[in-house]
Amino acid sequence: MAVYKVVTVPNEVLRTKAKEVTRINDGLLRLLENMKDTMYEFDGIGLAAPQIGVLKRVIVVDPGDNYMELINPEIIYKEGEQTGREGCLSIPGVYGKVSRAKKVIVKALNRHNETITVEAEDLLARVLQHEIDHLDGILFIDKATEIIKEK
Ligand code: CO
Repeated sequence: MAVYKVVTVPNEVLRTKAKEVTRINDGLLRLLENMKDTMYEFDGIGLAAPQIGVLKRVIVVDPGDNYMELINPEIIYKEGEQTGREGCLSIPGVYGKVSRAKKVIVKALNRHNETITVEAEDLLARVLQHEIDHLDGILFIDKATEIIKEK
């Protein structure tokens, strides 16, 4: 169990495409645990591996009481639109209004190397889209229509 330091902008790691996970081994399970601890420590509702400097396609999310960890997540279906406020642990003090799909279906592997699909709407769908963007080096500020800086 460990809490990592969260990488912040303009660190290049946040702009680099992460690599597919090819083996789920002890190192990866440790990564998942540490990402979970780090997300909760900083009151995040999602965290992608590049945010702790690891260029692997792994995310953890929990927009309330629904913790999930997804390996090699992929959006396979999108529907509708929602616009809402977003922030990011890697961009402290900055918020923006971002349009996202209202509903998504995400395919991924779980820690047991099983393929799972997650159907998500509203906040969970937003968080998943935000975190999956991180795996491609995309940040919410790239998509935001309004940026608000708070001290
Ligand atoms: Co983020």
